[in-house]
Amino acid sequence: MSLLSAFPSPVNAIVIGASGGIGSAVTHLLEQDPNIAQIHAFARSSVPITSDKVIAGKIDLLDEASIAQAAASCGAEAGLIFVATGMLHEDGTRPEKSWRSLDADKMARAFAINSIGPALVAKHFLPLLPRGQRGLFAALSARVGSISDNHLGGWYSYRAAKAALNQMIRTASIELAQKHPLAVCVGLHPGTVDTNLSKPFQGNVPDKKLFTPETSARALLTVLNGLTPADSGNLFAWDGTKIPF
Ligand SMILES: NC(=O)c1ccc[n+]([C@@H]2O[C@H](COP(=O)([O-])OP(=O)(O)OC[C@H]3O[C@@H](n4cnc5c(N)ncnc54)[C@H](OP(=O)(O)O)[C@@H]3O)[C@@H](O)[C@H]2O)c1
Repeated sequence: MSLLSAFPSPVNAIVIGASGGIGSAVTHLLEQDPNIAQIHAFARSSVPITSDKVIAGKIDLLDEASIAQAAASCGAEAGLIFVATGMLHEDGTRPEKSWRSLDADKMARAFAINSIGPALVAKHFLPLLPRGQRGLFAALSARVGSISDNHLGGWYSYRAAKAALNQMIRTASIELAQKHPLAVCVGLHPGTVDTNLSKPFQGNVPDKKLFTPETSARALLTVLNGLTPADSGNLFAWDGTKIPF
C-alpha cells in the first residue's frame, strides 16, 4: 500500500541527503512505494543503490554549482522533493552549551549547512514541482528551531540556523503559492531519531522516544501525504502536530 496515496498517479521523487540516517530510510520507503515512479537520490557521500527505481547523484550544499547541476540532472518534474540534510555536530565539535563557546566560523558553518544550503536547494529544485498538480517540498528542520518552544537554551547555532530555515520555508511557500497553487512547502521535525546526528545526545532519551530512522521516515511521509496547500509554510512534527514558530 502506498504511503503517498494522495497523489492521483505515480510521481517522481527527489531526496537530497539520501546518505543520512533519515534520508536513507525515506529513500528506501519511496523505493517500495507503488505511487513513486523514480527517485533521484542525491548525497555528498555515496548512496547505496538497492533498487532500479533509484538514480544516484552528488550534491554538496556548500557548493551552489553542485546544487544547480543536481537539479538540472533530474530532467523531469517531481511530485515530492524531500530535503534530509543537516548538521548538529562534526569533527568532535559539540553544539554550544554557553555563549562562551560561540565561534564565528562554527556558527557560519552551522548556518551554511542548516539554513543557506536548503534555501539554495529550494531555489534550484522548487521549479521542478509540477504546475496545476499536487506537489510536496519538505525540508527536515527541528523542534529546537522553534523560538516559542525554547525553554532549555543551549545549542545556539543549531537552534538559530533551524529558526532561519523555518523562515526560509515560510517565505518560499508564499512565493510558491503564486505559481503552484496546489503545492505544499513545509518543514518537518522527525522526533528524536537514532542516527549519527543524535548519537552523542541519546543518553537521556527514553527508549520509546528514540525512533528508528524507518519509524520516523514512515511517520513523516504519512504526515506529508495528509497535508494540503493550506498547510504550506508551517513546521510539522512526525505525529502531524503543527509546531508554533
Ligand atoms: N536525528 C534526530 O534526532 C533529529 C532530530 C531533529 C531534527 N533532525 C534533522 O533531521 C535531518 C537529518 O538528520 P539525520 O538524523 O538523518 O542525520 P545524519 O544521519 O547525520 O544525516 C545528515 C545528512 O546531511 C548530509 N549533509 C551534511 N552536510 C552536507 C553538505 N554540506 N552537503 C550535502 N549533504 C550534507 C549528510 O551527508 P553525508 O552522509 O555525506 O555526511 C547526511 O546525508 C537534519 O536536518 C537534522 O537536523 C534530526
